[in-house]
Amino acid sequence: MTKKRVAVLISGRGSNMAALVKAAERPDFPAEISLVLSNRADAAGLAFAAERGIETVVLSHKNYADRLAFDAALDAQLRVTGIDIICLAGFMRLLTPWLVERWRDRMINVHPSLLPAFKGLDTHARALALGVRFHGCTVHFVRAEMDEGPIILQAAVPVEDDDTPDTLAARVLVQEHVIYPKGLELLAAGRLAVEDERVAIAGARGGLPTLVAPAV
Ligand code: GAR
Repeated sequence: MTKKRVAVLISGRGSNMAALVKAAERPDFPAEISLVLSNRADAAGLAFAAERGIETVVLSHKNYADRLAFDAALDAQLRVTGIDIICLAGFMRLLTPWLVERWRDRMINVHPSLLPAFKGLDTHARALALGVRFHGCTVHFVRAEMDEGPIILQAAVPVEDDDTPDTLAARVLVQEHVIYPKGLELLAAGRLAVEDERVAIAGARGGLPTLVAPAV
């Protein structure tokens, strides 16, 4: 099996990146994490990746005149490293349509809400403010509009009466760490097809893991 080469792009803590790295250590996993790239030198996740012997690169957006110049440098780095798939994992930079199109259907993201609800920031506080009974997370292909794109997997969690944004975020994060590696596995194994901006999962048995219910 030739493993797909994956770059994980982070800006901070990197817990989703760590979940991807751990999943990819399985011998039968169809992808390897070949590069962890951060736009911030102080991203905590860089140390974890370096300890695991993964190549790390810091590409500071402050060194580039505009978004296109930054994205061109990013694209060049990814190509030099022979990357097949990009995973955005808390990468807090808007990407240009140019870069998104170049990596169309080869770039995925995890977002802490049940999209298309709660795009953007502070998703957990906004979910609590609106009194939703279920919240969750989404793995999706990246499109030029922020937090848009064909949905690959989602996991729902219940919202408890005494939740704070932090307790809800923690419950959702557990599920992010489940569905993000699963989404990458499906993509790297060639089991995803995008038709009319909907994702079909090859070999899914009876509607497989579009929803992962947490243990209660
Ligand atoms: C995660 O909760 C991820 O879903 C979110 O940032 C956090 C990064 O945490 N991403 C977005 O909001 C993207 N729109 P991590 O660095 O520990 O993976």
